[in-house]
Amino acid sequence: MNVGASIASPSVTMDLPIIRARGVTKWYGAVNALKPTDFEVNRNEIVGLIGDNGAGKSTLIKVISGAHPPTEGEIEVDGEPVVFRSTRDAMRRGIETIYQYNAMIPQMSISRNIFIGREPIKYRIGPLRIMDLEHMNREAMRSVESLDLNLRSAETPVVDLSGGQRQSVVIARAMHFKSKVVILDEPTNHLSVKETNKVLDQTLHLKDQGISAVFISHNMHHVHQMADRIVAMARGQKIADVRKEDISADDLYKLLTDS
Ligand SMILES: Nc1ncnc2c1ncn2[C@@H]1O[C@H](COP(=O)(O)OP(=O)(O)O)[C@@H](O)[C@H]1O
Ligand SMILES: [Mg+2]
Repeated sequence: MNVGASIASPSVTMDLPIIRARGVTKWYGAVNALKPTDFEVNRNEIVGLIGDNGAGKSTLIKVISGAHPPTEGEIEVDGEPVVFRSTRDAMRRGIETIYQYNAMIPQMSISRNIFIGREPIKYRIGPLRIMDLEHMNREAMRSVESLDLNLRSAETPVVDLSGGQRQSVVIARAMHFKSKVVILDEPTNHLSVKETNKVLDQTLHLKDQGISAVFISHNMHHVHQMADRIVAMARGQKIADVRKEDISADDLYKLLTDS
């Protein structure tokens, strides 16, 4: 019997990182924001990304989320080489990014923002495509309800939401479209303590749903609390890549202040 072989092959696929960046670099003109860096995101893990202002954290995630092309280096998703020309390319491969400045259209409703670029079509009249607004509102409300947001309607314009609620809409979008990885670049900046806790809870909730996350924050305690693995950067380089069990929050703090 060939049982071993049939069991082995799927597990090999599962062991592949979802995202693997190899030797990625970024130059902005004469500024070398990112030196050759390897970075991976595995299945079912929250990766905490820390480092001082200007360390290159945002540059690294811009490169792996399609916002900026790397100057050099390769990126693979599920073992396949990819070249992202836009964040939309990355979204199609299951990589969703939540920037400090949110990628949303504030004047539009929650449901329009959840379905942005991926609107379900009800019917066509010649070249005209009519969106299925009812379906969008119903599905948006379902996603948003699961996040305990206290919103009455999916038709509320995003401009009327708080910062924390806006983050939640993007998280709802990632859950609805079953993203593989959600990247959160300092999602708790400018949020109240209550809103911050909600974003932390929602990130853990993503992981419960089998969605991995990259969580960038200045707050060492939040990162230590949330992450399975912690990557530290300084001056455009990775200076540590450790499992959470192997480092205390205090040592993490020391690592950054000494670097
Ligand atoms: N668009 C840009 N043009 C020129 N320099 C940039 C640009 N974006 C970032 N940098 C520089 O690259 C370095 C890394 O920045 P960044 O990746 O934003 O760091 P972090 O997110 O860790 O604070 C910094 O020195 C920053 O000034
Ligand atoms: Mg940044």
